[in-house]
Amino acid sequence: MTEDRPMRVVQWTTGNIARQAVRAVLGRADLELVGAYAHSADKEGRDVADLCGLDAATGITATGDVDALLALEPDCVVYAPLHPDVGELVRLLGAGVNVVTTSELLTGRCLDVGERERIEDACATGGATLFGTGMNPGWAQLLAGVAAGIGQRVRHVTVSESVDVSLFAGDANFDAFGWGRPAGDPGHAADVEAATRTFSEGAEVLARILGIDDPELRCTVAFAHATADLDLPGRPIAAGTVAGIDLRWEVLIDGRAVAELHSRFVMGKDLDTGWTVDHGYRIDVDGDPRITLRVEIWPDLDDLSALTVEEMHAIGMRISATPAVNAIPAVCRAAPGIRSYADLPVPSANLGAGR
Ligand SMILES: NC(=O)c1ccc[n+]([C@@H]2O[C@H](COP(=O)([O-])OP(=O)(O)OC[C@H]3O[C@@H](n4cnc5c(N)ncnc54)[C@H](OP(=O)(O)O)[C@@H]3O)[C@@H](O)[C@H]2O)c1
Repeated sequence: MTEDRPMRVVQWTTGNIARQAVRAVLGRADLELVGAYAHSADKEGRDVADLCGLDAATGITATGDVDALLALEPDCVVYAPLHPDVGELVRLLGAGVNVVTTSELLTGRCLDVGERERIEDACATGGATLFGTGMNPGWAQLLAGVAAGIGQRVRHVTVSESVDVSLFAGDANFDAFGWGRPAGDPGHAADVEAATRTFSEGAEVLARILGIDDPELRCTVAFAHATADLDLPGRPIAAGTVAGIDLRWEVLIDGRAVAELHSRFVMGKDLDTGWTVDHGYRIDVDGDPRITLRVEIWPDLDDLSALTVEEMHAIGMRISATPAVNAIPAVCRAAPGIRSYADLPVPSANLGAGR
């Protein structure tokens, strides 16, 4: 609550993440959904419930009219387009609206210096805060930082995510990974590095939580190749071409790795490597003592045979969207500027404000 009323929230776009974010907003009595932005013109005028697959109408219709949304005087926007637009962010922040986002922006490290300055200036002008998260990058780095907090003489912290993404092969978020490129294709590793720059911002967040302010980072990429033609939904992959990507974004001190975000994405099991896939998140803290955190995510179902591919996908989106929504109260209270988990008190579910 701000003073004696719920915080006013606008949902920006209504895609995969947004569908889950809207549910999370509606589930907290200290938040009130007051508006929604549509990037797609054909979504304008439609109820958010219709766009986000909710049973009951919300009475909130999506609009492309940004002035109308600003006139609602939102405390915060949940910004979830496929890619961020600096102009949109500057407009929102400059108008004094806080922003939580999952859209490829946690520290601004990957932006041009000029763009980052525009955002910082807008935050200063509007007295507003921009906060980026997700599950990974995002919440997983917070978990790793918390885990390292019980260790002494910590030498290295690893956040690992490994997942078979073949059921969701056609997801637009994977477009830039270069699935199906020929083995040894020049420039592919550099393209994956560019496509996963958001993980460098996650690595920076972890570094800052661990007390390293301006970290040196290194990215390394390895590939696995399909041993058979893969007939995957939305993205067929030919035998001999790239069907697995192993990615490390490392934090260095004087050239020595002290932390890493390790991601392994595979398109099925027919690969020319012996890579294992854990299906989940794992955090390892190498120190005294040595700590391992295995994060298993299970559907809220008694009968797992009822689980559909759509619901599996939705769970991934839920754990990515919810940390952004749950951070809204802390973000609204934070100092203006681009803020991360290194700056906020630990945001969590608000059981006292449930509906
Ligand atoms: N850190 C994490 O753990 C994590 C996890 C998952 C996703 N993400 C990130 O969260 C963001 C949203 O993911 P998503 O799966 O929800 O995306 P999505 O459903 O594919 O797209 C989100 C919305 O973006 C709008 N849009 C479509 N094409 C666009 C374009 N070319 N430029 C700008 N906006 C466009 C559409 O708005 P309308 O609704 O108006 O049509 C669409 O519904 C992405 O940046 C993704 O990488 C982060």
